Amino acid sequence: MAARFEGKRGLVLGVANKRSIAWAIAQRLAAEGAELAFTFQGERIERSVRDLAATVDSPLVTSCDVRSDEELERVFGEVAERFDGGLDLLVHSVAYAAAEDLEGRFVDTPRERFWLAVDVSAYSLVAAARAAEPLFEARGGGSIVTMTYLGGERAVPHYNVMGVAKATLDASVRYLAWDLGEQNVRVNAVSAGPVRTLAARSIAGFPTMEAIVEERAPLHRHISADDVGAAAAFLLSDEAANVTGTTFYVDSGFHSMGM
Ligand SMILES: NC(=O)c1ccc[n+]([C@@H]2O[C@H](COP(=O)([O-])OP(=O)(O)OC[C@H]3O[C@@H](n4cnc5c(N)ncnc54)[C@H](O)[C@@H]3O)[C@@H](O)[C@H]2O)c1
Repeated sequence: MAARFEGKRGLVLGVANKRSIAWAIAQRLAAEGAELAFTFQGERIERSVRDLAATVDSPLVTSCDVRSDEELERVFGEVAERFDGGLDLLVHSVAYAAAEDLEGRFVDTPRERFWLAVDVSAYSLVAAARAAEPLFEARGGGSIVTMTYLGGERAVPHYNVMGVAKATLDASVRYLAWDLGEQNVRVNAVSAGPVRTLAARSIAGFPTMEAIVEERAPLHRHISADDVGAAAAFLLSDEAANVTGTTFYVDSGFHSMGM
């Protein structure tokens, strides 16, 4: 089988370390020929992202805080410069909520931290898609994948404001798919079951979420970041040429259960 991403260029937002879902996706894309640029947030993780990016011969690693339109503009400018004005793939695997809002009661979430979670975890997809639009256009189309979770559709204890942010993200996927479809840009989400990553560690009760999946999911087992990588790679590839505006569940079937 021909490598699905030969000649394709992508930007990956959201690698923090080797456990990051974004890294699992990036490895899949790179293994099948994609040339990838990476962003990192904050000096604390810069080294780890640069080291990982070097293993896939990345031509561009740059900092980006998705809360800033100026930073996004600079990043997409750098990407355009490095990739001859074009981009084929965009991986959005970014989320944040204050740790204190991922325990206790959702009703107690203060206004500014509610908007912070929605800003970083959902609006960033809209801003990145807008910044990517001219680069996709230069290539005659493109494909975007973001990461979501069932907590945006159902109330999951402790997921709280992040669930509200994911609901916003899920709806944004559908509206972006509609807007950008005309330019042959596809927008999809992967809804993953629990995976032990840096972000997951800040969710109180994460072990309980895992235990419930094991007990109730049809497959009674956990997923891996690589399972998500495989699904995201499919959605990003030309094999999914007519798939857009959708959510693809990689959760051992947990979402299909009523109890
Ligand atoms: N781990 C899970 O169980 C799970 C399940 C479903 C969905 N997800 C989603 O997968 C995505 C990736 O998370 P992960 O589990 O790989 O954890 P992770 O901690 O490895 O990745 C989260 C990333 O978000 C980045 N980030 C946070 N705030 C940012 C900001 N202001 N600007 C730029 N980047 C910022 C972090 O630097 C990090 O790279 C998230 O959207 C998360 O909600 C995770």
